Amino acid sequence: MIVDIKDVVSSPIIATPGHSHVYKYNDVYAVKVFAGERELEMMRLAGDCSITPRGRVLHDGKQVGIIMELGKPVDVTDFDLQDKKELSEKLISLVKSLHHKGLLHGDIKLANLLFAKDGSIRLCDFEGSQLEVNSTAPEEPTLNWISRVRLQNLDWPLRKEDDFYALGLTIWEIFTGCIPFQGLPEDKVEERIRAGDFVDVSEVGDVEIQGWIEKYLDLGRRLRRPDDVN
Ligand SMILES: Nc1ncnc2c1ncn2[C@@H]1O[C@H](COP(=O)(O)OP(=O)(O)O)[C@@H](O)[C@H]1O
Ligand SMILES: [Mg+2]
Repeated sequence: MIVDIKDVVSSPIIATPGHSHVYKYNDVYAVKVFAGERELEMMRLAGDCSITPRGRVLHDGKQVGIIMELGKPVDVTDFDLQDKKELSEKLISLVKSLHHKGLLHGDIKLANLLFAKDGSIRLCDFEGSQLEVNSTAPEEPTLNWISRVRLQNLDWPLRKEDDFYALGLTIWEIFTGCIPFQGLPEDKVEERIRAGDFVDVSEVGDVEIQGWIEKYLDLGRRLRRPDDVN
């Protein structure tokens, strides 16, 4: 489906996270403006790992946005331990399945997870997504979810390890209800990551979950320079 930008801008806004606006459109769709052709292509390639794209928003004949199925943001406030465990397991499968398709997400965090109409969990925000086979340096990695090795090597191509590190932190988010380094200004977050600081895994009471988080953080820390075959 194709709609013109002027039919969208009077719709209610769901979120204005940064440079993009997300609108609720005709009750059943979400529309993200600005979002380009590459992001839409990545969503299509991601198949059932992505909230389902439905079409494009045009301005003067050029794509400025994406129409998608309206999802429900994940709110863990009322989740009990079992709900959180199940969600974490589903998230792990989701990331594995995306990687299996040869795609890297590049911005895994709780805010980029949605419940689809059919009840499944899906990723949104494929702006930083890339094909693994010819990946390049991440364009605007989200600071709070990146590893020290990534922060020190922003020119290395995006790798599965980046998604794994962010996955570990997202599981921590699910259990604590907080984002990593919550409330700290960007320069302080950067200082802390450079100093080798990360989240306090013991804040997650469950030892099994602590193990999951540590596993993915450790996998994430294995990010290597592209020519290092070992
Ligand atoms: N299809 C959708 N249905 C419902 N909410 C959505 C949808 N897509 C995005 N959102 C909401 O809008 C927010 C911002 O969208 P996102 O694609 O992550 O933009 P950004 O690249 O600016 O972070 C998401 O965190 C989510 O809460
Ligand atoms: Mg986002």
